[in-house]
Amino acid sequence: MDPHPFATAPADSPPLESLPVEPLLTAEFDTDPGGVYERLRRRYGPVAPVGLFGVPAWLVLDYREVLEVLRNESVWRRDVKHWRARAEGRLPPDWPLLAGYEVRQMMFFDDDEHRHARQTYHTAVRPFQDGSTRQGYELRSAVARYTDELVGMLAAESGQAGFADLAAQYTRPLLLMITTRLFGCPVELGDELVMDLWRMLDGGADAGPATGRALAAMTRLAAHRRALPGDDVTSYMLLADPTLSDEQLGRELFMNAVYLNDITGNMVCNTLVEVLRGNATVRRSLSAGMIGETVNRAALANPPVANLCFRFAARDVRLGRFWIRAGDIVSPSAAAAHRDLLAIDSHIVDSTVSTRAHLGWGAGPHQCPAAARELSNMIVSTAVGRVFDHFTRVELTLPHDQLPWRSGPVVRGLRLLPVRYELGDSHPVHIPEAPASGLLSHAPAHAAPGRPGGLLGALRRFMFGTRKPHHP
Ligand code: HEM
Repeated sequence: MDPHPFATAPADSPPLESLPVEPLLTAEFDTDPGGVYERLRRRYGPVAPVGLFGVPAWLVLDYREVLEVLRNESVWRRDVKHWRARAEGRLPPDWPLLAGYEVRQMMFFDDDEHRHARQTYHTAVRPFQDGSTRQGYELRSAVARYTDELVGMLAAESGQAGFADLAAQYTRPLLLMITTRLFGCPVELGDELVMDLWRMLDGGADAGPATGRALAAMTRLAAHRRALPGDDVTSYMLLADPTLSDEQLGRELFMNAVYLNDITGNMVCNTLVEVLRGNATVRRSLSAGMIGETVNRAALANPPVANLCFRFAARDVRLGRFWIRAGDIVSPSAAAAHRDLLAIDSHIVDSTVSTRAHLGWGAGPHQCPAAARELSNMIVSTAVGRVFDHFTRVELTLPHDQLPWRSGPVVRGLRLLPVRYELGDSHPVHIPEAPASGLLSHAPAHAAPGRPGGLLGALRRFMFGTRKPHHP
C-alpha cells in the first residue's frame, strides 16, 4: 500500500489545491450518492479530489485504501491541528464543517491522549453494554418498554391503521428517551438538540451557533451530575476519570449524543427502509429471525456514517493515483468502500454468512468502541424488531427513490420515514402525570411552553409529567 514510506511527493505530482475539483454536495449526491462515487472512481481511481463547501479535500473511495487510512494512525492523524490549510489560515472563517472539528474530544485525539480517553470511556459505558449487569438489564427493559409505549402512543394519536412518520414519531423520540436515561438527564433532551446536531453534521448555515448550544447543554449536564451523581454514563465518566472538567466531559457527552441520537437513529431508519423497500437479503435475514444480521446487511447497503471523520496526512504519502501531501485533508468514504466491496465480493449479497466486513462502525484505533457497538446493536435490533412485531402491515408511502434524504457530507439519514401501517392488537396508552424540574429542555417552537403538543408531548408527559422548562 505504501511502497515509499518516507518519500516526499515528486515535484511534478499535482498538489490538491492545484486540481480542478467538483463539489461533492449537489442535488445529484443527495438523491444518488452511489452514482456520484462511481463516477468519481471511474475518473480518478481509488482517491478523488472533491470540493466540500468550497474547500478541496481527498475523498477515499476504494475499500483497500479506506482501510489503510483508518488503520494506519501514524500516517493518518485525527487532530485538526495537522491540517495545513487551517494552520495557514486559508479556510473561509465560517466554513461550516469546522465548528464540529474544533470541539476537542476523544474522536479528535491521537496517540496517548486518545488511548487514555478511550479507556475512561470504556470503563464508564461497559456496565450498560449487555444484559449481564443490573444497569445493562434495566436499560434493555427500558428500551423495550419505550418502543412499546411509542407504538401505543402512535395508535392513540393516529389510530389502529393510518399514516405515520416513523422517523419523527418513533425513532427520534425513542433515541431521546434512551439518551435521557443513559446520560442521566434530569428532564428530557429536547428535539432542538437533535436539530442542532443535524445542523453541525450537515454543515448548515448556523452550524457554529448550533454546536455552541448543544455543547452548552452537555456542559450543564456534566456540572449537574458532578453535584448529584447517579446511575448513568455521565456520573460513571466522572468516576472513571475524576480529573475531567465539566467542559471536557461536556465535549465528550456532546460527541456521544451525536452517535446515540443521530447516528443510531439513522441506523434504525436505514434498516427499516432496506426492509420496506424490499432489499431481498435484508428481508431474508429478518424473516429468518437474524435481526443482528439484518442490521449488518443494512449497514453494508447504506451506512449512516457514510463518510467518516477527516484524517490529516502526517507526511507525504501515495494513495491511489495521487501523492497526498503532509497536512492534506482526507475523507474516507465507508459508503463508497462498501460499493467497491460488493462489486469485488458480490457473493456477500446472497450469502447468509458474514457481512462483518462493513465499515459502518469504522475500523482501526478510532473504531466505534465495543461497548457502544453492543449498545447500539441492541437498540437498533429492538427498535426494528418491535416495529415488525407490532405492525401487521407497514409500507412506504413514497417510492424508494423519492424518500427525503438529508443533504450533508457525513450522514446518510432521512428527514422523514413516511409509512402506511396497520397494527395487530390494541395498544393501550398510559400517560402518568408526575412533577419534574427542568435542566436541558428546549420546547419546540410550535409548542406552548412546558406543554409540547402531539405525540412527543404525550411522550414527555409519560416520562416526566408536566412541568415548566427551566434554563439555568
Ligand atoms: C448504529 C449506531 C452507530 C454507528 C453506525 C456508529 C459508527 C461509528 C463510526 C463509523 C465511528 C468511527 C468514526 C471514524 O473513525 O471516523 C464511531 C466512533 C465512535 N462511536 Fe459509534 N456508532 C454508533 C453508535 C454509537 C453509540 C450509541 C455511541 C455511544 C453511546 C457511540 C460512540 C462512539 C465513540 C465514542 C466513537 C469514537 C471512538 C474513537 O474515536 O476512539 N457510537 N462510531
